[in-house]
Amino acid sequence: MTKVAIPSANHAISREGQAFCLAPFRNLSVAIGGIATPCCEFKGNFGDVKQQSIPEIWNGQAFTEFRRKMLRDEKDDACSKCYDMEATGGLSLRRTYNEHLWQKNSVFAQPDDFLAKADESVTVQPAAQPLMLDIRFSNLCNFSCRMCHHGASSKWFSDARALKATRAPEALIKTFTSTEASIEAIRPLLPSVEEIYFAGGEPLLIEQHYAILSELVALGRTDVVLYYNTNLSALRLGRHDVVELWSHFKTISLELSVDGAEERGELVRKGMDWDIFVANVKTLKQKCPHITLRFGVTVSVFNIAVLPELHERLVELVDHENPEFHLHVLQEPDYYSIQILPEPLKQAIEQRLEAHAELHAADASVREQFQHIAAHMMAADRSDLIERFRNITLRLDALRNEATAVACPELAPLLRFSLRSKLVHLIQRVPSLNRLLSGLSLNRRQSSSIA
Ligand SMILES: C[S@@+](CC[C@H](N)C(=O)[O-])C[C@H]1O[C@@H](n2cnc3c(N)ncnc32)[C@H](O)[C@@H]1O
Ligand code: SF4
Repeated sequence: MTKVAIPSANHAISREGQAFCLAPFRNLSVAIGGIATPCCEFKGNFGDVKQQSIPEIWNGQAFTEFRRKMLRDEKDDACSKCYDMEATGGLSLRRTYNEHLWQKNSVFAQPDDFLAKADESVTVQPAAQPLMLDIRFSNLCNFSCRMCHHGASSKWFSDARALKATRAPEALIKTFTSTEASIEAIRPLLPSVEEIYFAGGEPLLIEQHYAILSELVALGRTDVVLYYNTNLSALRLGRHDVVELWSHFKTISLELSVDGAEERGELVRKGMDWDIFVANVKTLKQKCPHITLRFGVTVSVFNIAVLPELHERLVELVDHENPEFHLHVLQEPDYYSIQILPEPLKQAIEQRLEAHAELHAADASVREQFQHIAAHMMAADRSDLIERFRNITLRLDALRNEATAVACPELAPLLRFSLRSKLVHLIQRVPSLNRLLSGLSLNRRQSSSIA
């Protein structure tokens, strides 16, 4: 078992510190393809489950060194996503893990223990093996959502090839070498694991997910807490019935991904059938009342204008039972960011979001999320990306035989070809033309204001 010594240090480490994170002491994330890390935001590589066993990775040098670093409260470049999020006042995964895991940590019964011991030379043991598992068995998916990519969805493969966005030789990207290898690798963790998070790909279409649930039931480990991100397009896979399997488990939390209702939702999340989504939500409500449902919306140019309506629609769908509603701001691809929208459209949308926040003032979560989204949209002007948005969107529309301008009419003006803006765009990219224009006292600023 890895032992991590805290060196004598004069600096006090607070419960959160500036860098300290509990994730590497309890959690293992395994990304599509097999790379293992302490969490899914970590930009690094602590091993590959295709080549190493999980204990080798968990007790390996990279994990051990990283734990030591955390105990010294030293920042690591691979955690920049968390630090960046914290710098802008956002809730980082680091803080979420620390809050969530502190209560469970057997090493430091109290945060104060940690504080007290941080000044001494003490030995700290991480969990003998991961107690939380964040596992993505493959990119197998039946959707090709516009903002997603081939790395996360096998269904994206042909479009990604046409757009030259992937060099992968085939659609399916596996995490382990085979289904059997996946189960053999995970099986030893099942007697002690406490929480499993399934994503993908689409977890409800992935055979290994069903195998793990069946093994847990057979072991009597129905106390394991299950978390999912799912498109909820299917509740069965062959002979497996997820509703039946879920009925054995005490605590399950599902985040249902939905980015728009009806035609708009089906355009953004290609493969989605709104009526099936609605029917499956109703089935869950009826047959699995013990499951916590929440809606997860990836906020992009495609849905920001109608977010209030989508929220109302989803509240209605669960009979006004005040469902949790999570808004995730899309950062990548940047040309789908809400920051690219032209200023007048942004202002109109901001008013609608503020009005919705006001309407739901009593619900702090809804109010704060709508206000945060509006603030994020106004925080930067990325309208320089509109051209790129138009190019990609029109190419995808053609490949998919779809019409974004019809499903999302507020985007129609952005999708119209404008000779004027094209010219300005071209001129700005050709230095000699730009210099010529400068000579004619039409500087960059003026030329972009034409656009
Ligand atoms: C990659 S999916 C995998 C799980 C499942 N297939 C689903 O859709 O929920 C996990 C989550 O990432 C979200 N997502 C997809 N593309 C995204 C992007 N570019 N930025 C932020 N979130 C994204 C999805 O909407 C979903 O909520
Ligand atoms: S359903 Fe999930 S994994 Fe599949 S394409 Fe959409 S976001 Fe990506």
